[in-house]
Amino acid sequence: MKEIGVYIHIPFCKQKCLYCDFVSFENKEQMQKEYVEALKKEIENWKVNNKDYVTRTIYIGGGTPSYIDSKYIIEVLKSVGNAESITIEVNPGTITKQKLIDYKDTGINRLSIGLQSSKDELLKQIGRIHSYQDFLQTYNLAREIGFDNINVDLMIGLPNQNIQDIKKTLEEICKINPEHISVYSLIIEEGTPIQRLINNGELKLLDEELERQMYWYVKNYLELNGYRHYEISNFAKPGFESKHNLDCWNQKEYIGFGIAAHSYIEGKRFGNITNIEQYIQNCKNNDFDKNGIIEETQNKSQMMNEYMILGLRKIDGISIQKFENKFNENPIMIYKKELQKLHEEKLVIIDGDIIKLSNKGLDFANIVWEEFV
Ligand SMILES: C[S@@+](CC[C@H](N)C(=O)[O-])C[C@H]1O[C@@H](n2cnc3c(N)ncnc32)[C@H](O)[C@@H]1O
Ligand code: SF4
Repeated sequence: MKEIGVYIHIPFCKQKCLYCDFVSFENKEQMQKEYVEALKKEIENWKVNNKDYVTRTIYIGGGTPSYIDSKYIIEVLKSVGNAESITIEVNPGTITKQKLIDYKDTGINRLSIGLQSSKDELLKQIGRIHSYQDFLQTYNLAREIGFDNINVDLMIGLPNQNIQDIKKTLEEICKINPEHISVYSLIIEEGTPIQRLINNGELKLLDEELERQMYWYVKNYLELNGYRHYEISNFAKPGFESKHNLDCWNQKEYIGFGIAAHSYIEGKRFGNITNIEQYIQNCKNNDFDKNGIIEETQNKSQMMNEYMILGLRKIDGISIQKFENKFNENPIMIYKKELQKLHEEKLVIIDGDIIKLSNKGLDFANIVWEEFV
């Protein structure tokens, strides 16, 4: 049996945040039932045709999976079956005690809660539907019900955010002691409301130097408080690293169900269409092939390049031995020119069996990726 990760996309949000361009909709609540029916069909169809896979991890993301009725989440998970790690993304403005009880009863053992900041003015400014108090209520309920593996999403580089805000948020979060913390630098995506607000001068983008200062403040603070920085944007108490995401960074296989979900199987990367009406129709007609668009069929060299890019995201970097075991090639030989240049520029460290980003490389990771594209 081969192991696989399963991603399930729930494309509904109560209200779109001003910075977000993930495929998710507000005002399409009436489609939830049909969408879940389509999802279940897509999952069943895949399972019938792929009996040699066993599910290792399940990640229910979005959008906002916690926005829809928890009976739908239960139904979808019944279709997939069990796994050792099952995560669901939760927005504090959408949660009830009953939903959390249902998640626990159905085998979900990890919550990922979107907070972004503990400062209510900032939450309002970026269009979040909840306050810090709402987050605390969700978090405390989750603990009460017995969730012992919780991630909190934070953001840095927000307009009007300063180091003091970051410090306050980190103090508050470390007090409640989640097992995992993700910290994302704001990316201004094309066509988002926040981009318009910045372009017309209503909001001001932070300068890059301040954003980097925030990053290093977060890194130092969390490391001093018992979190291990294990991926560019991720920190965990020892043993609580995200299994699902680590498998993706280790170039393991995963299958995505639902609109806009991505898959990586047998060296092929493919993504589902993003049109929800079309997706539902295709599932109704059993035309599952029409939902997937193959983006890349990798040859060995492309697979090795991608392995480098994904692997260097991890703070521990890449093991030369593991690379050799997987590809029968020595990465130092294959990437002699690139690694020499990155080493001279002090962006990458080569130490015994390990190739990894230096501290400078963490700030200029994009320059490192370019060498392997
Ligand atoms: C699918 S959401 C998490 C669950 C839920 N939808 C919520 O927002 O609470 C994934 C996370 O991605 C991050 N994110 C989304 N858009 C981003 C952007 N443009 N720049 C940086 N981080 C972003 C946010 O931290 C967000 O919590
Ligand atoms: S950040 Fe989360 S809640 Fe906000 S629009 Fe994106 S998916 Fe929806």
